[in-house]
Amino acid sequence: MSKIGIIGAMELEVDQLKSEMTITNTTSRASIDFFEGTLNGTEIVIARSGIGKVNAALCAQIMIDIYQVTHIINTGVAGSLNAKLDIGDILISNDAIHHDMDVTIFGYQLGEVPQLGVREFTADEDLKVLAIDSCKQVNPDIHVMTGRVVSGDQFISSKEVKEHLINTFAGDCAEMEGASIAHVAFLNHIPFVIIRAISDKADDSAEMDYPTFEREAAKHSARLVERMLTKLS
Ligand code: ADE
Repeated sequence: MSKIGIIGAMELEVDQLKSEMTITNTTSRASIDFFEGTLNGTEIVIARSGIGKVNAALCAQIMIDIYQVTHIINTGVAGSLNAKLDIGDILISNDAIHHDMDVTIFGYQLGEVPQLGVREFTADEDLKVLAIDSCKQVNPDIHVMTGRVVSGDQFISSKEVKEHLINTFAGDCAEMEGASIAHVAFLNHIPFVIIRAISDKADDSAEMDYPTFEREAAKHSARLVERMLTKLS
């Protein structure tokens, strides 16, 4: 029996799903509220982790240990690093990398966490396919593609940093949680996928675009997740 953990960093990323689910239990751990119940026939637990990699990792591990989720979906918004991804489009993770991890001095690749044996955390193939199919069904006018999520404890809003993330990591979108959730999922052998709607271009226009488009973008990814749940029960 599947139990799907859904993590969003901000209220607006989880609000829509929360308002549509049947909540059977609400509990709090480490200052995070966890809402258990069902949505579209599937058992879920949903939480707003808070922003950044530590909050997201903490939330993912609690979901696994306490709520015993079998899969994790991370939903939210991101800045685009790929000219093919415009504001409002959706990226489904092929994999995720920490862009702010640097132990190159000891021979590791930039982004590689020492002693794990991997730099990229690979998303679950079945969840990925399901996410793409669900997106085409509920958001037929929205461009969806798969690609690489790069995560760090920084909001990316400069051309120079954006270019670094593209040139060094071949990132397709930048956000602040995905790789840490993927990292926790990897260590616990839990399948995961990251779904991000583009809210800005992660450059000098990001400061203006992000507040304008975050709400609409978050709705796109929430609608997609909702559809995925019809197939995951
Ligand atoms: N989330 C949405 N846009 C972002 C950006 N430009 N950088 C980091 N996280 C984001």
